[in-house]
Amino acid sequence: MIVLGIETSCDETAAAVVTGERAILSNLVLSQLDEHRPFGGVVPEIAARSHLDHLDALVARALKEAGLGFDALDGVAATAGPGLIGGVFVGVMTAKAIALARDLPFLAINHLEGHALSVRLTDDLDFPYLLLLISGGHCQLLAVEGIGRYRRLGGTIDDALGEAFDKAAKLMGLAYPGGPAVERAAEAGDPARFDLPRPMLGRDNLDFSFSGLKTAVRHKARALGLPEAGDPQTVGDLAAGFQAAVGDVLADRCRRALARFGESHGRAGPLVVAGGVAANRYLRTRLAAVAEQAGALLLAPPQALCTDNAAMIAWAALERLGLGLTDPLDFAPRPRWPLEELAAQTAHAGAMP
Ligand code: KG4
Ligand code: ZN
Repeated sequence: MIVLGIETSCDETAAAVVTGERAILSNLVLSQLDEHRPFGGVVPEIAARSHLDHLDALVARALKEAGLGFDALDGVAATAGPGLIGGVFVGVMTAKAIALARDLPFLAINHLEGHALSVRLTDDLDFPYLLLLISGGHCQLLAVEGIGRYRRLGGTIDDALGEAFDKAAKLMGLAYPGGPAVERAAEAGDPARFDLPRPMLGRDNLDFSFSGLKTAVRHKARALGLPEAGDPQTVGDLAAGFQAAVGDVLADRCRRALARFGESHGRAGPLVVAGGVAANRYLRTRLAAVAEQAGALLLAPPQALCTDNAAMIAWAALERLGLGLTDPLDFAPRPRWPLEELAAQTAHAGAMP
């Protein structure tokens, strides 16, 4: 089976062609970074218009690179939420139009499910597994028990982790997007120079909180004359301190989650980390250490499949098609769409792995 996937839920216009045998025939991502940079963040209206301007040509290029025409496809999939709704509409309408014109099955994919299953595109991994999903809009721990079967174990009570990285970067005067900039700055920094809080550390639940850490960075930055007057060493030290605090929090939460997952599922992990922030090498190292201590494997998709892409959307669609699941052409895009709600949608298909 071969599926065309489309992703337009944030600031990347993406199209990919993937096969059921896990071959990524094409995987194109057009970043809108330059269009949003002057505003220091993603502007929804600019994003939607840019998706509209570029998506048709990108789909054509994705097919061309795959060496296929529309007639070779077994389905067309688009991210149908959660995300910036203007952009989501562009992707969904495009996918529906292709499906209608070519008489192909249409699949409305939950963006988070794309991230959650992306590891199965690159690794031979069975259910269940423990998932730490850390992206620009999300920070959650989930038990992934099957396709469409996600149990939320905990999540952030305020900011998403990628959002915290982006805000911290701005306070330090680092370029947008903040995550990669903080990681780079932190490489030469001393993580012990600034004393920053570790919210939720040791708490008897699996939740996260990052707003207190962000506030602490704001106070330190202001006292140091940032973002205007930063010398690179000071910025590096603060970035390293921030990253170390995040690392301690993730390690603590995942240690606890692995223990709980072991009790309920009778196996130690594996722990999968996905989403844009999973591209961070320092955090991956910290999580690998936690997994190893628990006797579990840490798996993370390659960096290009961590940040937003359409291959993961095509893959989630292939997993669903394999179970006989498709969506009607009147499926309405959803700006909010918690993963747990997928259970009802898949139940009728008896969606066991
Ligand atoms: O998954 P993603 O591409 O989009 C969403 O679905 O949100 O994640 C984007 C987020 C941004 O906040 C970005 O700063 C962060 O992932 N990010 C990173 C790194 N690369 C991207 N955060 C920390 N370290 C990185 N290397
Ligand atoms: Zn994402």
